[in-house]
Amino acid sequence: MKPKNILIYLLAATALVGCQPHSSDPIEKKIDALLAQMTLEEKVGQLNQINDMGGLTADVTEQIKTGQIGSFLNVTDPEVINAKQRIAVEQTRLGIPLLFARDVIHGYKTIFPIPLGQAATWNIDLIEQGARIAAEEATAVGIRWTFSPMIDVSRDARWGRIAESFGEDTHLNTVMGLAMIRGYQTDDLTAPNAMAACAKHFVGYGASESGKDYNTTWIPEVQLRDLYLPPFKAAADAGCATFMCSFNDINGVPSTGNRELNIDILRNEWNYDGMLVSDWGSAEQMIMHGFCTDLKEAAEKAANAGMDMDMMSFAYPRHLAELVREGKVSEETVNRAVRNVLRLKFRLGLFENPYSEIKENPFYRAEALDAARKTAAESLVLLKNSSVLPLKEIKSVAVVGPLADSPIDQMGTWSLGADPTQCVTPLKAIQQEYAHLKINFAKGLAYSRVHDTKGIAEAVAAARKSDIVLFFAGEEAILSGEAKCLAEINLPGAQTQMLSALKATGKPVVMVVMAGRPLTIGREIEMADAVVYAFHGGTMAGAGIADVLWGKVVPSGKLPVTMPKMVGQLPIYYNHKNTGRPATDITLIDDIPYGAEQFSIGSTSYHLDAGAHPLFPFGFGLSYTTFEYGALQLSANQMELHGSITVTCQITNTGSYDAYEVPQLYMRDLVGELCRPVRELKGFQKVFIKAGETKEVSFVLTEEELRYWHSDITLRSDKGEFHVWIASDSQSGTSATFTLK
Ligand code: GLC
Repeated sequence: MKPKNILIYLLAATALVGCQPHSSDPIEKKIDALLAQMTLEEKVGQLNQINDMGGLTADVTEQIKTGQIGSFLNVTDPEVINAKQRIAVEQTRLGIPLLFARDVIHGYKTIFPIPLGQAATWNIDLIEQGARIAAEEATAVGIRWTFSPMIDVSRDARWGRIAESFGEDTHLNTVMGLAMIRGYQTDDLTAPNAMAACAKHFVGYGASESGKDYNTTWIPEVQLRDLYLPPFKAAADAGCATFMCSFNDINGVPSTGNRELNIDILRNEWNYDGMLVSDWGSAEQMIMHGFCTDLKEAAEKAANAGMDMDMMSFAYPRHLAELVREGKVSEETVNRAVRNVLRLKFRLGLFENPYSEIKENPFYRAEALDAARKTAAESLVLLKNSSVLPLKEIKSVAVVGPLADSPIDQMGTWSLGADPTQCVTPLKAIQQEYAHLKINFAKGLAYSRVHDTKGIAEAVAAARKSDIVLFFAGEEAILSGEAKCLAEINLPGAQTQMLSALKATGKPVVMVVMAGRPLTIGREIEMADAVVYAFHGGTMAGAGIADVLWGKVVPSGKLPVTMPKMVGQLPIYYNHKNTGRPATDITLIDDIPYGAEQFSIGSTSYHLDAGAHPLFPFGFGLSYTTFEYGALQLSANQMELHGSITVTCQITNTGSYDAYEVPQLYMRDLVGELCRPVRELKGFQKVFIKAGETKEVSFVLTEEELRYWHSDITLRSDKGEFHVWIASDSQSGTSATFTLK
């Protein structure tokens, strides 16, 4: 897995195994001084992270006192955090502070839209702001390390963890992951309100076969380097404080024990000096993978593959010292891991300020709720609108559906410990802000999976006496996230029957889908008069949705992930290869004449029962206005090596609402040493354009952005023709052509 680039080998040779920051660095001197005093047991103790949500038991107190624990996860009571910290700092031989961690994935108490929803905003500043607010709330109790951002490129909606990612595109996961890292860490990690970020899951977890969690992955090196590694490389270069191993094996090697990944690439090729933590029990799981015989061998393989901290396998505390004494793991290897842990603690300023100051009411502040509301509104993707939105001149409204008033569900996965009573559901938002309307509320189905249709009658009755029906559908939070994978991704339960019954009333129906993934809603799109896709939107989801439905906010969301027509199309994504027989003259299954000759219908790449295209493409999203894209202007039609061209176009708001648009820059390498995708996203902007106004947008496309990993594992571009677009989604727009000389 080594690039055939002699420079890399030279770097590897000089950097030994694992990058060592310059020893003149003051922190490195402090680490040297501390390391020189540490016993082997104390070193091993720093590499042990345990989950302990309880108070201060005698056993835990003893473990801290004897230096057996380096970090806790999931302790959230500030008193308990400070009490544990006081023991570590004041009652141990060396006074090394503990590090407290938590999964603060899309907010701590004020919950923002799930990362897939934040991605739909295509608003980098909002994502950074949300992470900053999350860090303010989490550090207020003493949590100084979050296991976020999750930057696994995710192409499979069956995979529950697509909810935690920024979707299917490498560029989006890169720039949005960086925004979260900036928000958490700021430029001063020692600040008490700064929180160490964690780039996870390293790597290729989103490629889990069949979208089944923890499943195996087969990823050719060129795809690993083109698709999955870039967000992590960017995170490493940006100083993301930590990385986390992924659960999956890559081509038969579990990431936790993958030396080529965690040392050759992460340390020697990228010169990363942050800390690498396992995922929960992932060291021990190498036994189940069939990669290790027992926990001792798991400790040996994890240590020799560069895993620094052991989360909840107890492999290191039970076996690492013994492995060193047996010479199976060198003490230098342990020292390197301990250095990485101590460096993180020094960089966080924990030695100087180990205790958290207890703040009054640090949660759910007005500015936090406002930011969450704004993000929720901008995360909404308008998929269909037959002139029913924005709502106006109505006197009564039916608010129905299993997610119309379900705080837990609207917060989505990884909203641990958030207060549901703080949630503004769609019902609550409408009651608070549109109380002048006659509001007829009926869930119809108690929760998304209910198949019993007897409650639908009440919702139909509410619809009959209303001017318009707002149907809040989707999936419960428990159906999304880790280990929540689905083989079918239709609307759960009897929701489709419910929509059909609502439709039969003859009232206009607006369907709002709140989910943690794309669902196959083709039938529902046909039935509803308008459809808004709301990836679980968090604490203020209802307020954000109401803002859009009533036009206080014009929808600007764009899909960060392709929406399939049918689950059988998966994996389906925009940056696919052209194949030798791209889909043309499509004959769908019901159009095939009976008795047709074998080759009488097309022989190209598509499914007879689904066609070749998704329900909605990556980058798609409607507005209440319309935009017209002018012809592309190129600063040159030739590009030199290391050169660039500027791509420009005029965009006119041809409708009657001032609104944001998200012009997207795509390119295509027409002929490569390897077959290249039909489109690759290389940039985007979020542009506000007033009704009737025209704005010019331009992008600089560089030769470096045309590069990809060739079969000889070198990163370079191909000379020849390229197409370029500035478009409103990944299937629209007119291309222009340039040549790379
Ligand atoms: C979980 C997840 C990981 C999370 C960790 C700690 O299993 O895979 O993303 O950060 O354990 O909760």
